[in-house]
Amino acid sequence: MKIRLLLATVALILLVVPKILFAGDYVISPPPKSLDKFYPPESKTPRWTQQMHKISGAFGGVFVDMKENDWKNAEAGAKRFLENYREAAKWVPEWEDLFDLNAAKKFTDSVTSHDPKQIKKASGPVAETCSKCHSKNYLPVWARYHMPSVKKIKITDPIAEEEMDYKAFMYRLSSNFKEMTVNFSQEQYMKVFQAANHFQKRIKELRSVCSKCHVSEWSRSAVSVRQFFVNDDILEVIQDIKKDLATGEPNPEKFWEIVETIGVQSCKKCHLVHQSFTLIQQAWAEPKN
Ligand code: HEC
Ligand code: HEC
Ligand code: HEC
Repeated sequence: MKIRLLLATVALILLVVPKILFAGDYVISPPPKSLDKFYPPESKTPRWTQQMHKISGAFGGVFVDMKENDWKNAEAGAKRFLENYREAAKWVPEWEDLFDLNAAKKFTDSVTSHDPKQIKKASGPVAETCSKCHSKNYLPVWARYHMPSVKKIKITDPIAEEEMDYKAFMYRLSSNFKEMTVNFSQEQYMKVFQAANHFQKRIKELRSVCSKCHVSEWSRSAVSVRQFFVNDDILEVIQDIKKDLATGEPNPEKFWEIVETIGVQSCKKCHLVHQSFTLIQQAWAEPKN
C-alpha cells in the first residue's frame, strides 16, 4: 500500500514537472513570442538591441564620469539608465522578473552620494541582472533574430545541373568526399579522380551562396569571406590530388594529408561557424510531440 502511494506520488510529480533539469543543463528554448515586436520584420529596426545600447551606454557612462569626478554627467547618466531600464522591463512580460527595478533605483540614488564605494556596491545587483539574462538568452535571440536561415537558399548543382536546397547539396558534396576516400583505400584511382573532379566543382559552386547572407560592402570586399572555407587553397589542393592521381601511382601520405586538411579547414571550420545556429533553428522548427 505504501509503495503504491509512493509510486503514485512520483507519477504525480513527473506529471506536474514537465522536464526535470539538472544543474549543468543549458536549455536553448525559443525566445518569448512577445519579443518579435522588437525585431525585424515586425519592427523596422532591432529595437531591443538598441534599447540595450541605451541602457549600457548610460550605465557604463556613470563609471566613466565617476572616474573623472564629473558628477553632473554621472547623475544625468544614472537617471537615463533608470528610465531606459524601466522601459525595457515593460516590453516583454515573460522577462519582467529578470529585471530588478528596486536595485536599479538604489543604484541611481547612490550616484547622488558621489561616493565611488557606495556606487560600486549598489551597481553589483544591477549588473547581476544583466549577466543573468544574457547568459540564458543571447543564444536564443541570436538564433532567432540574427542568424539568417539556410532554408530559403537554393544552389544550382554544377554536376546534376539542377537547383537544390543547401542540405541536399551538402549531402552530395559529402558523398563526393567519401567516394574519394573509400575508392582511394581500394586503389580504384579512376573513381577517385572522377569524384575529386565533382568535388572540386561543387566546392567552387558553394562560393555562390556566400553573398546571399554576406551582403554588406564590408564583407564583399577583396579580402572577402570567400578566403575562408572555399578559398583558392582548397581548390588547389584538390588539383594536387588530381595531378598525383594522373601519375597512376599517387602518394598515399600526401593524399591523406590533403583529405584531412580539407576536412578541417573547409568542412569542420565552416560547420562550426555556420551550422551551429542552423541546428538550433531546425530543432525549434520540428513539430512538438
Ligand atoms: C531580460 C533580459 C535582459 C536584461 C535584464 C538585460 N539584457 Fe542586455 N541583452 C538582452 C538580450 C536578449 C540581448 C541580445 C540582443 C541582440 O543580440 O539583439 C542583450 C544584449 C545586450 C548588449 C549587446 C548589444 C549588441 O549589440 O549585441 C548589451 C551591451 C547589453 N545587452 C547591456 C545590458 C546591460 C548593461 C544590462 C543591465 C544593466 C542588460 N543588458 C540587461 C537581454 C537583457
Ligand atoms: C545563411 C547565411 C550565410 C551563408 C550562406 C554564409 N554565411 Fe558566413 N556567416 C553568416 C553569419 C550570420 C555570420 C556571423 C557574422 C556575420 O554576420 O558576418 C557568418 C560568419 C562568417 C565568417 C566569420 C567572419 C565574418 O566575416 O563574419 C566567415 C569567414 C564566413 N561567414 C564565411 C562564409 C563563406 C565563405 C560563405 C560561403 C561559402 C558563407 N560564409 C556563407 C551567414 C552566412
Ligand atoms: C560554406 C560553409 C560550409 C562548408 C565549406 C561545408 N559545409 Fe556542410 N553544411 C553547412 C551548413 C550551413 C549545413 C547545414 C545545412 C542544413 O542543415 O540545412 C551543412 C550541413 C552538412 C551536412 C548535413 C547535415 C549534417 O547532419 O551534418 C553534411 C553531411 C555536410 N554538411 C558535409 C560537409 C562536408 C563533407 C564538407 C566539406 C567537404 C562540408 N560540409 C563543407 C555549411 C558548410
